[in-house]
Amino acid sequence: MEEKRIRIILDGDPGHDDAVNFMLACGSPRFEVLGITTVAGNQTLENTTRNALNLMQALELDVPVYRGCSQAMVREHIAAGDIHGKSGMDGPVFEPLRRTIEAKHAVNFIIDTLMESEEPVTLVPTGPLTNVAMAIRMEPRILPKIEQIVLMGGCYQLGNRTPAAEFNIYDDPEAAHIVFTCGRPLTMIGLDVTRKCLCTPEVIERMEKIGNRASQIFADLMRFFSSTQKKIYGWAGGPLHDPLTCAYLIDPSVLTVRRMYAEIDHGCYGPSYGRTNCDFFGRTAKSREANADVAVDVDVEKYWDIIEAGLRAYSR
Ligand code: RIB
Ligand code: CA
Repeated sequence: MEEKRIRIILDGDPGHDDAVNFMLACGSPRFEVLGITTVAGNQTLENTTRNALNLMQALELDVPVYRGCSQAMVREHIAAGDIHGKSGMDGPVFEPLRRTIEAKHAVNFIIDTLMESEEPVTLVPTGPLTNVAMAIRMEPRILPKIEQIVLMGGCYQLGNRTPAAEFNIYDDPEAAHIVFTCGRPLTMIGLDVTRKCLCTPEVIERMEKIGNRASQIFADLMRFFSSTQKKIYGWAGGPLHDPLTCAYLIDPSVLTVRRMYAEIDHGCYGPSYGRTNCDFFGRTAKSREANADVAVDVDVEKYWDIIEAGLRAYSR
């Protein structure tokens, strides 16, 4: 019997790796993608929104794109131009943009979709959590309609934006606090596993050989994304962070997760502002109930197989 499709909303800040996650999700029969909501993060909201539209147009994907929050809930917005370039998705060259944005604000789309939906919906955020947090605060009645939240963000080891914090969380710690305390099933896929998935030249060549438009966009994205991180970190490839979310939904065996209490350092600009403090050893289990399944290991070969299958799903 055919598996029931997972109904999802993709929320992100494309962003090279967000774009690959969008490609994986929109081309997969495992998902019914209800919409894409954009947020400021890697670049300004204007740039992340244009990037999402460019990708939908280039792959002729009929998925609506909704423009979200341009600022974090409290802190000033920071971008990651050093990683993703001036446009936020440097590398591929797209045709003049004809695709247009939906009129509704992304936060209202999330609220309306969840409130009107008979079935619960899975949220897949891969950028700062501003849109999701705003939706939860504006309309708490959406909570029982959230099947689960599978997010890319955080780390229980080293950060990337600061020694303590990972970029998505650091860019809006107050939003992350709201999401991590909302009480819905949450899977945190952090740098601890995504850094094991370096998109090396060999991986790029493997995908480019598929020979369709999707694989060419993947190669153009990843060549730029890897070049900046080689310069900054000296790595052989850029860690392909975001698509691990949908890869995990497609095949949960791609990750090993560990249930633990995860708390966000928020509210004051200390040296650990935006850190996901994860109680790996359960030292506070008596007083703090675990609130997240945190990814602690990844089957990298299986991940690349999922990415390859995702790109092959495109007929052009
Ligand atoms: O820290 C990595 C995360 O920050 C990824 O989601 C990347 O796209 C940026 O949003
Ligand atoms: Ca992202």
